[in-house]
Amino acid sequence: MKREYKPGCPYGTHRVLKPQGVLPQAAWRIDNSPEIRDNEILIDVEALNIDAASFKEILSGCNPEMDEAAKEQYVASVVMDIVERRGKMHNPATGSGGMLLGRIREFGPKVYGKEGARVGDRICTLVSLSLTPLKIDKIKKVHLDKDQIDVEGTAVLFETGPFAVIPPDLGEKLSLAVLDVAGAPVQTVRLVKAGDSVLVLGAGGKSGLMCVAVAKEKAGPAGRVIGLAHSDTSRKRLERLGAADVVLSGDARDAIATMEKVTAANGGKKVDITINCVNIPGTEMASILCTKDGGKVYFFSMATSFTAAALGAEGVGADVELIIGNGYARGHAKQALELVRRNARLREIFEGQFQGN
Ligand SMILES: NC(=O)c1ccc[n+]([C@@H]2O[C@H](COP(=O)([O-])OP(=O)(O)OC[C@H]3O[C@@H](n4cnc5c(N)ncnc54)[C@H](OP(=O)(O)O)[C@@H]3O)[C@@H](O)[C@H]2O)c1
Repeated sequence: MKREYKPGCPYGTHRVLKPQGVLPQAAWRIDNSPEIRDNEILIDVEALNIDAASFKEILSGCNPEMDEAAKEQYVASVVMDIVERRGKMHNPATGSGGMLLGRIREFGPKVYGKEGARVGDRICTLVSLSLTPLKIDKIKKVHLDKDQIDVEGTAVLFETGPFAVIPPDLGEKLSLAVLDVAGAPVQTVRLVKAGDSVLVLGAGGKSGLMCVAVAKEKAGPAGRVIGLAHSDTSRKRLERLGAADVVLSGDARDAIATMEKVTAANGGKKVDITINCVNIPGTEMASILCTKDGGKVYFFSMATSFTAAALGAEGVGADVELIIGNGYARGHAKQALELVRRNARLREIFEGQFQGN
């Protein structure tokens, strides 16, 4: 017998359990039942890509004495607990989520065949796990080096939730990693002009490398792209990319030292645009102090505090435009994947980092 589907709200408000009246992202708890409404898509989940700030925060709860297996078990238990309590992977400490990889199991009739997708297609969701109804039946493997977790479970995508079918030419884990941060390079393209000086903080990370690559394409030979990496490992990735005019190392929580390094690397001047791609809190002031008056700071990092940025800029009399990194931009998934295809070094770095088990 054909099943009757109840109508659903395009924004998924019918799934909000607590508190009533808010949208799913703001909700403490949502209904993660796999019974879908007429405008939802049911997904069999294979892997979660946990937001970098969230993963780092969860890992910080590990005892340094723990071996890898114990750390994996710890992360698995924290993720399971959050999802059981909230019906979604919404880290209460960072407020962030991530996204997922899975196969379409069922379409509600109103969204049947959306984006040309079919039942059985492998997709990445392009909407945060912090609002995606998620039920985990089993955690199979935690990948500490990739911020990814292999799971068995189900998730639900609302009518307004974008997704991308996994391209056949790029690996699925690589696609998952790239699509998680697809908004950053696209918005960098919009911000940077030929001749600009651009600073990328967290430049050896996933979004950082992509931003450095596109910033150099846009700024051109007359521009100057400065990448600040943190550990030796991420510095080496940034050097291997070969797109930054200047590679610096440092701790972006030290605002004054960072400003001194960056201005020295930029002919004694502050930069036109700063892109913040770090995965830890406390780097708002380095971003602001490195940017010239009338310049722009783009906070892609989920560890950014609105209060620290707004009051901090006021406190030092910095007349800079502070931009919140919207995770979504029209066409972002396609453009981010295209960037990886056309930039052989970026692709090689990401393949080394994310391909395989
Ligand atoms: N706006 C959005 O919609 C959206 C979507 C997805 C992700 N995000 C956020 O974007 C940020 C970057 O994500 P990602 O996936 O690119 O993360 P990632 O690959 O983990 O990169 C983060 C980078 O930050 C660097 N870092 C850590 N501590 C630092 C310090 N004290 N000083 C300078 N750099 C430091 C790390 O360097 P080391 O590894 O060398 O320590 C790492 O390379 C995260 O905050 C994430 O939550 C935002």
